[in-house]
Amino acid sequence: MTQVQSGILLEHCRFGIFIEAMVQGEFADLRQGCKQFCQALSELQQQFPDAHLGAVLAFGADVWHDLSNGQGAKELKPFTPLGKGLAPATQRDLLVHIQSLRHDVNFSLAQAALAAFGNTIRVEEETHGFRWVEERDLSGFIDGTENPQGEQRPVVAVIGEGEEDAGGSYVLVQRYEHNLRQWQRFTTEQQEQIIGRTKLSSEELPPEQRPETSHVSRVDLKEDGKGLKILRQSLPYGTASGKHGLYFIAYCARLHNIEQQLLSMFGERDGKHDALLRFSRAVTGSYYFAPSLTRLLAL
Ligand code: HEM
Ligand code: MG
Repeated sequence: MTQVQSGILLEHCRFGIFIEAMVQGEFADLRQGCKQFCQALSELQQQFPDAHLGAVLAFGADVWHDLSNGQGAKELKPFTPLGKGLAPATQRDLLVHIQSLRHDVNFSLAQAALAAFGNTIRVEEETHGFRWVEERDLSGFIDGTENPQGEQRPVVAVIGEGEEDAGGSYVLVQRYEHNLRQWQRFTTEQQEQIIGRTKLSSEELPPEQRPETSHVSRVDLKEDGKGLKILRQSLPYGTASGKHGLYFIAYCARLHNIEQQLLSMFGERDGKHDALLRFSRAVTGSYYFAPSLTRLLAL
């Protein structure tokens, strides 16, 4: 059995740290860094079993190509801007995704990551996310209601046993900044039309009662009668007085599913844009591939 990286499938984490970096050193050092990081991760997991600590290392297309000698992750490509720049591209080489029930333990692992990679990487983004009240996004809407549950999670998020890249996963990250002042000008009913679900209890509005531009209508896509599912692990981040929003992150066995949802949100399928872009804007965007743990340690 190939082992899946421990941060992909976790449920109900309370805190997350997201680090995106460029690789500037030797590949031998990068490989060594990955191993050292995995070692630190397993030590912290043993030291703090109550934290349910998990983490993922994932790579941008250029670095993956060189690290893997061109093997696998056939769908991986650099993120390119969508919707005339409404979704900007800030493709980086390495993603470190840490999540658990404890921010203190996450922070220790983030420090261990910096020690493991040293000068081999140059950090470009570090975001600390937290689970807000009732697992709500800062818009006040519950985020994750239609996320795959239980045994559906690996089916959706991880490439199956027997396939090339088994145990691996494609990743999208996009940091969104919300304009909550703008958002609060909408009535609850208007907000519900923008999201496509009710605010208090997260009930889905029937398709005929929500606009085609509602978020749910944009991303609840079918192909040949089958839903294009993804696994989201996004968290709110930021400061109350400064910038805040959603650090969006999704895992999927196929990059295709994620990409189709993005094209639909940013007007690249039918010219219509997601109504949530009226209060939130994407400020970063990268695609990565997270190999199985087995593959990661053998790189
Ligand atoms: C559903 C918020 C960005 C994919 C939802 C829901 C909310 C939400 C409140 C409804 C509850 C749920 O099912 O989780 C947001 C916010 C975003 C954002 C605030 C950014 C500011 C994205 C992006 C994607 C995406 C970029 C995909 C690339 C989905 C999917 C669903 C969903 C697949 C479930 C749809 C269904 O099957 O009913 N989102 N989302 N979201 N979102 Fe987002
Ligand atoms: Mg649905």
